Amino acid sequence: MSATVFAVSNQKGGTGKTTLSMNLAAGLAKRGRTLVVDADPQGSAGQWANLASDDRPFPVSVIAVAGNLAREVNRFRQDYQYVVIDCPPTLETETTRLAMTVSDKILVPVLPSPIDLWASVRLSEALEQLKFSNPQLQAYMVVNQVEPRNALSRAMQQALEEFDIPALSSVIRRRAVFRTSAIEGASVFCYGKRGLAAAEEVNSIIEEVLIT
Ligand SMILES: Nc1ncnc2c1ncn2[C@@H]1O[C@H](COP(=O)(O)OP(=O)(O)OP(=O)(O)O)[C@@H](O)[C@H]1O
Ligand SMILES: [Mg+2]
Repeated sequence: MSATVFAVSNQKGGTGKTTLSMNLAAGLAKRGRTLVVDADPQGSAGQWANLASDDRPFPVSVIAVAGNLAREVNRFRQDYQYVVIDCPPTLETETTRLAMTVSDKILVPVLPSPIDLWASVRLSEALEQLKFSNPQLQAYMVVNQVEPRNALSRAMQQALEEFDIPALSSVIRRRAVFRTSAIEGASVFCYGKRGLAAAEEVNSIIEEVLIT
């Protein structure tokens, strides 16, 4: 087995990296053995899993890596089908650079405003530099917290088209169940009918990134 490694990264804070990492991992776990690597010193992914109740444990183990992240992740490739790395909100650390170097796919959650998107331009430049050390790397923007019932604004659509990193056509809407899943250490897959639309969004993202 050799895992597909996803990094969820954006140097801008609060765009939904941990929310996407944990729900993505829960969705991937239905397809194959999955691990979350918490690469953020804030430890949010680890805290998320710790909030799970004993009768409903989080379906994926979350580990923090002490040594060289790339070396450790390459070791995990043998034992897992999917590895998801939740990155810190900075490009300035060695951890983020190693996460992007060791990954097959990078997902970049952005909030649905052009200003937020352009705040990620440095990430796009950092990815450009990785083309030599990691030429296979594929990066995608994931628009998160799209207003329920509203389509993306025309300004946002235009900004996405102009941006260097392609955007997935699947988006994530702003939904209370994503916040509930964090508070309860669960995933949107645990809430039956209440989580169905959110779970479909996560599945749709998984399908889109696994085929491209
Ligand atoms: N689709 C969504 N719907 C509703 N709330 C969301 C959604 N995505 C994220 N949130 C909420 O937005 C906040 C920020 O999300 P999250 O912690 O995942 O971002 P982050 O990028 O990991 O932040 P940091 O940069 O601090 O690591 C959290 O309160 C989370 O519950
Ligand atoms: Mg986070």
